Amino acid sequence: MKKILVVLLTVLLLFSFAACKQGSGEVKLGGIFPLSGGAATFGQSSKNGMQMAIDEFNAAGHKIDGKTIMIKPIYGDTEGQPEKAANVGQKLINQDQVIGIVGAVMSKNSLAIAPIAQAAKVPMISPTSTNPKVTQVGDYIYRACFIDPFQGTVMAKYAYDDLGKRRAALLYDNGNDYNKGLAEFFKKSFAELGGEIVAEEAFTDEDKTVDFKAQLTNIKTHNPDFIYIPNYYQAAALIMKQAAEIGLEVQFGGGDGWDSPELVNIGGKAVESGFFSNHFSKDDTRPIVQTFVKDYTAKFGATPDALATLAYDATKIFLNAMVKADSLDKMKIRDAMKTTSDEFVAGKVTFDSNRNPIKSAVVLTIKDGQQMFVKSVSP
Ligand code: PHE
Repeated sequence: MKKILVVLLTVLLLFSFAACKQGSGEVKLGGIFPLSGGAATFGQSSKNGMQMAIDEFNAAGHKIDGKTIMIKPIYGDTEGQPEKAANVGQKLINQDQVIGIVGAVMSKNSLAIAPIAQAAKVPMISPTSTNPKVTQVGDYIYRACFIDPFQGTVMAKYAYDDLGKRRAALLYDNGNDYNKGLAEFFKKSFAELGGEIVAEEAFTDEDKTVDFKAQLTNIKTHNPDFIYIPNYYQAAALIMKQAAEIGLEVQFGGGDGWDSPELVNIGGKAVESGFFSNHFSKDDTRPIVQTFVKDYTAKFGATPDALATLAYDATKIFLNAMVKADSLDKMKIRDAMKTTSDEFVAGKVTFDSNRNPIKSAVVLTIKDGQQMFVKSVSP
């Protein structure tokens, strides 16, 4: 009798275990972007890119540990501000219990969220935060883009070698890590190449600063042949516009923060012929890029920028790792991310020991109000 009972119980147990493994489940994935505020176009593009990767994942139907998993995105708005970013990070982790975080966009906001994600052991991947410190926070923090020491060198070399510039000036927001870091890396590279830094001017909080004429007037007296402005699009556009207004006609250059249709909308003619480094060009002929550009344009009625593309890539890196781990265990997903070695839209991704991918950059210019591909630069 006892034996029969044991057998029966075992069968029952096995049966319920199998039943558990079938069925489906919903998994929440956080997306933290600047959906409002001075960098809102970054947020909208990033959200679109993430949503597209999730829609494709859900449509394909994936099983994790025997269960069909549907991903539900939970979006949070940083408003472009570190304090808000930290709050929304806490909410997504503690209240919504997200399995991971895609975000943030701007380095200053990623730096506010990363310690919270690291402490909670929630894997986080920033699509676009390029400041080196972001992934140094800990082993749960990844990014899908190159870092600023490389980006700064790309523009320094482009200015010195390709454009033949020798006298550079800088004007940037010294109140946050991205702008400050990129300015440092550019300066170091340009000087190492043999160029001279003839002037350096700063301001704090580009969200609130609208008048750059005093700094530009100072810069003008030093007669530079190149001005590097590693700021986000709003400040960058206003600086170029005001330079034209005070008769400072000189070549401008910048970084990925310029990537917004608003650069041209705000700056008009003044931003024509500016050069900037970026992660992606829609004109890249690789089939994976052309398919993405076509699908994204059909879905959202806009061409994808670097923000959309990297948010798409970052989400895929996370979801691929989840499938590879065949588990919803956050530590296993983190470990699987480390072994990523695939072709994505913005290039191949393999991580170095600091969880940074080694990737190429592109140099773009503005011609007739449109972004135009100039060249690709390998690390
Ligand atoms: N790299 C920027 C940062 O770290 C964010 C950014 C990326 C903005 C790409 C525009 C395009 O703050």
